[in-house]
Amino acid sequence: MNGSPALVLDGVSRHFGGLRAVDGVSLTVGAGERHALIGPNGAGKTTLFHLISGELAPTAGRIALFGADVTRLAPHRRAALGIARTFQITKLFPGLTVLENVLLACEALDARKLVMHRRADAYGDLDARARALLERFGLSGLARELARNLSYGDQRKLEVALSMAGRPRLLLLDEPMAGLSAGESRSMHDLLDRLDRSIAVLLIEHDMDVAFAFAERVTVLHQGRVLVQGDRDAVSANRAVQDIYLGTEPVRDLGSGAEG
Ligand SMILES: Nc1ncnc2c1ncn2[C@@H]1O[C@H](COP(=O)(O)OP(=O)(O)OP(=O)(O)O)[C@@H](O)[C@H]1O
Ligand SMILES: [Mg+2]
Repeated sequence: MNGSPALVLDGVSRHFGGLRAVDGVSLTVGAGERHALIGPNGAGKTTLFHLISGELAPTAGRIALFGADVTRLAPHRRAALGIARTFQITKLFPGLTVLENVLLACEALDARKLVMHRRADAYGDLDARARALLERFGLSGLARELARNLSYGDQRKLEVALSMAGRPRLLLLDEPMAGLSAGESRSMHDLLDRLDRSIAVLLIEHDMDVAFAFAERVTVLHQGRVLVQGDRDAVSANRAVQDIYLGTEPVRDLGSGAEG
């Protein structure tokens, strides 16, 4: 397992009837790598996340996590391997407090491990871990607030905190800045920058500046296919990328990408 990339996609496709939402995508995310997944609306980015986390089965191709083939593995078995994700639309328990949300996430992770030998202080451990997570994400002051009363920006932060409860080694973030004010967006950006460097992160992001500031490698999806893939500088300089984002001309040549 040591030295294996966090994620390897090999020719992964997902068709919905005649629609090729994801079409032969190959992509590697190294251990601890920061990788941005960009592309216009409908490019297949979220569908690719569903395929990686196991919520959707691929029509073709193979998926490996930390060196293990997971193509046919259920989502909870993939989560146990160290993968976590957030969703494009926030999924919290709105009627529970911030602390209760984090406790539930920590407990869900620990249930598998503690069920045989539940120690008397297991709850204390969970409580300490939950509070440490809130501290790390700057949410301690809101521990007793109901999740529904949080600002949208704090709800998204809480969602990232929840995804970290399982101590993932690969984190999938689907537009964590979407809908945030400029200030909230900066704060989220800082938070992502401070994530433990041992965690590989695959970030879907519409804002090119944010994507390129965060990631050392970038994959551009267009109509389900990889248009360009490579190091940040090569991708940002690529004419085809500028074309789809600036809309100067239709993209014709799918083979003009940087190295993969
Ligand atoms: N369950 C589904 N059934 C049928 N079509 C789907 C399904 N899920 C996604 N699609 C279609 O697949 C294509 C890719 O959608 P997807 O949500 O992956 O795009 P995206 O890159 O995440 O877009 P956005 O930037 O708007 O979030 C779209 O045309 C979408 O309508
Ligand atoms: Mg999406």
